[in-house]
Amino acid sequence: MSDIIKIKEEYLIKLKTNLNLNDINQIKSELFGKTGKISNEFKKLGSKSAEEKKQFASALNFIKEELQTLIEKKIKEIEVNEIDKKLQNEKIDVTLPERSFKRGKIHPVSQVIDEISSIFSEIGFSVAEGPDVENEYNNFTALNTPDNHPARDMHDTFYLDDKKEFLLRTHTSPVQVRTMLSGKPPFKIIAPGRTYRSDSDQTHAPMFHQVEGLHIDKDINMGHLKGCLNYFIKEFFEVDKIKMRFRPSHFPFTEPSAEVDIGYEIKDGKIVIGEGDNWLEILGCGMVHPNVLKNVKINPSKYQGYAFGIGIDRLAMLKYGINDLRAFFETDYRWLNHFGFDPLDVPSNYRGLSR
Ligand code: PHE
Repeated sequence: MSDIIKIKEEYLIKLKTNLNLNDINQIKSELFGKTGKISNEFKKLGSKSAEEKKQFASALNFIKEELQTLIEKKIKEIEVNEIDKKLQNEKIDVTLPERSFKRGKIHPVSQVIDEISSIFSEIGFSVAEGPDVENEYNNFTALNTPDNHPARDMHDTFYLDDKKEFLLRTHTSPVQVRTMLSGKPPFKIIAPGRTYRSDSDQTHAPMFHQVEGLHIDKDINMGHLKGCLNYFIKEFFEVDKIKMRFRPSHFPFTEPSAEVDIGYEIKDGKIVIGEGDNWLEILGCGMVHPNVLKNVKINPSKYQGYAFGIGIDRLAMLKYGINDLRAFFETDYRWLNHFGFDPLDVPSNYRGLSR
């Protein structure tokens, strides 16, 4: 018995001295290794009488546990000390250059969509959406577009199947159909989104953006259309006065139809909106054709209204002085960094649309 008490006392003293992890491992093997001191004591059990065995084993187990607990405690202590030491010795070098990070920018097209939504929301329009993949009916037939219309041609439209049932929408006008089929008049919506046509040059891309407008109620006339567009263009270009021209045109889904040009001039190499004698077409519009209303189960002798479709990319180019439409879709980070917008600067009617 006294042997094991000796071992215990010897090691209690050892474990109180200044030790590192190596020392501890050494102690562990001295005690509990194959020929360790405690292990050897366990081997003695076999040669003892039953009575002695019981007492010895319980004393031995007790000591074993005591030493093991102490060793674990010591290991924790050493680890904590090491961390403390590190914290004391490590210094932050404030002269090091900072890590660079790249901040994202809002694409001009997204910015302009936000601006447009903000302006129209102010005069009671809500935002509607439709899918990019449309069926032939919503894109053409419901919109009173006859079979022989050039827009239906394969050269203009991306069809997705041989039967020409599904296509990439060629304009946002099918959202008019979807909106009117899914609710009851009055309607007052805008619908921004992607549109697709088989076309590609400096001012045309196979994918581009439009915003549709639709206002249907009992007494809506062309005067409301003019007033609404006049308001929009002034707000969008942030000018007090604009020159606007309604040019007679044709769309199968409006009657009468018009295209709208705005007046501008070039001053010091910059486009100035609202002055000058140059005209630029920015949208198509008209009074919704009675046949369209009939197709969506609305009585044209009770309800009427106007619709318009504005080219978003064209507006963005004009407002922000971007001269090649293709740059919008090239995903060049340098270009975006130059023409993009701060993500924290959300356009609002009150704080201002653009900076
Ligand atoms: N959908 C027409 C186009 O893409 C624009 C338009 C919309 C014209 C609504 C009239 C009314 O050219």
